Amino acid sequence: MAQHILAIDQGTTSTRAIVFDHAGAIVSVGQKEHEQIFPRAGWVEHDPAEITANTRYVIGQALAKADLNIGDLAAVGITNQRETAVVWDRTTGEPVYNAIVWQDTRTQSIVDDLGALGGGADRYKARVGLPLATYFSGPKVRWILDNVPGAREEADRGDLLFGNTDTWTLWNLTGGVSGGVHVTDVTNASRTMLMDLDTLDWDAEIAAEMGIPLSMLPQIRSSSEHYGVGVGVLSGVPITGILGDQQAATFGQACFDVGTAKNTYGTGNFMLLNTGTEKVASQNGLLTTVCYKIGSQDAVYALEGSIAVTGSLVQWLRDNLGIIGSAPEIETLARSVEDNGGAYFVPAFSGLFAPYWRADARGALVGLTRFVNKGHLARAVLEATAFQTREVLDAMNADSGVALTELKVDGGMVVNELLMQFQADVLDVPVIRPVVAETTALGAAYAAGLAVGYWGGEDELRANWAEDKRWTPALAADERERVYRNWKKAVTKSFDWVD
Ligand code: G3P
Repeated sequence: MAQHILAIDQGTTSTRAIVFDHAGAIVSVGQKEHEQIFPRAGWVEHDPAEITANTRYVIGQALAKADLNIGDLAAVGITNQRETAVVWDRTTGEPVYNAIVWQDTRTQSIVDDLGALGGGADRYKARVGLPLATYFSGPKVRWILDNVPGAREEADRGDLLFGNTDTWTLWNLTGGVSGGVHVTDVTNASRTMLMDLDTLDWDAEIAAEMGIPLSMLPQIRSSSEHYGVGVGVLSGVPITGILGDQQAATFGQACFDVGTAKNTYGTGNFMLLNTGTEKVASQNGLLTTVCYKIGSQDAVYALEGSIAVTGSLVQWLRDNLGIIGSAPEIETLARSVEDNGGAYFVPAFSGLFAPYWRADARGALVGLTRFVNKGHLARAVLEATAFQTREVLDAMNADSGVALTELKVDGGMVVNELLMQFQADVLDVPVIRPVVAETTALGAAYAAGLAVGYWGGEDELRANWAEDKRWTPALAADERERVYRNWKKAVTKSFDWVD
């Protein structure tokens, strides 16, 4: 049997291809960033053609670095930024518009109008597990059909296809116009606002209300099965795993037991708690989502706390303010001071997601005095990630009725020691980083490998997980609660900013 599994991680800022071995260790990595397009305040787009070109490029890069060829791959898994919507012509393969990214807030009036039909933000929540919000794919598709000339007519004729970037990537890697498969998995489908969480099928009533023809929607399949065979750069290799990136990280962290959770620090932060085959409705601002479904086994659900802006705040400090030259410099800058100097930064750039779901919120930097310098600002930026995570963890504990006793973490920001220590301090539970912190790609590799028998089952995957580092809480309780109270006050200053 071929010796390796390839995972493609089509993320918000870059696309990566990672080759894994049987022990779940990284063999090689290919990576390329794509352009972030901001046509107006609140709008965020990606060029789908650039993403496809980058995907092909990084696959070649990863294989070349490890001196492998496609014959060495037993299977390929795909994981992706979720909710980012692509609509394309099924005959030409041309996108009719740029991909509208999950962070984009242009669909606010669509969302408000749907809520006004009755039920407000909770109109579809019992069926799809999600509040009406600009975050999810369905309203983005509606926007494209309403605003791109001719798109509505083409869609009604059955000429257009929709997908999150998993579907777009799979369709292109399996042949595109000359035979690409139009498929998604349950985890991605659960982020569209169009899938019924019980039937795991499209909800025709919601799709009709949103004005989205069913003919555009991909077929929903499990997260681990044979979807198709690659062409071109992946000629002949089976593609057998798809998981939205946060679900993939949960799987890669081996959170297979009910009550296990992980938190991923990417452009945003996403905490997922495995609730097993039971779908738990949140009373505290969390999402109910599909965690994974392995082949014909029952679907496993999760509660999710989604935070829109964490790592992307560091990028903003780098790209928009130029205060740091590279992302890792934030830690050095933050260490130049002892604390935040009284400054709190609420990064509500896309409104606030969990647990608030406030579309009217915008970024707020408060508590400033002449004393505050860029070191304090760097601290406030890092602390914003930790405080937002505390809010989500509190919501999770309240929803599940059981307090988490430790938190498994992964993603780009977990190399930041200052942040990880502060995270443990502000949560008052140990924070644990695994040896393989690339758990998103690993989870997709696991899903793909399980489908072809490369791995035998969950126990084998569990055995691959190993602890790298643990941060233990060290902050006095009164200080912890004082800073958290200040954070909560700062959050209220971000409300009511949209006319
Ligand atoms: O829901 C959005 C999420 O899937 C994006 O993840 O890692 O690209 O920030 P990431």
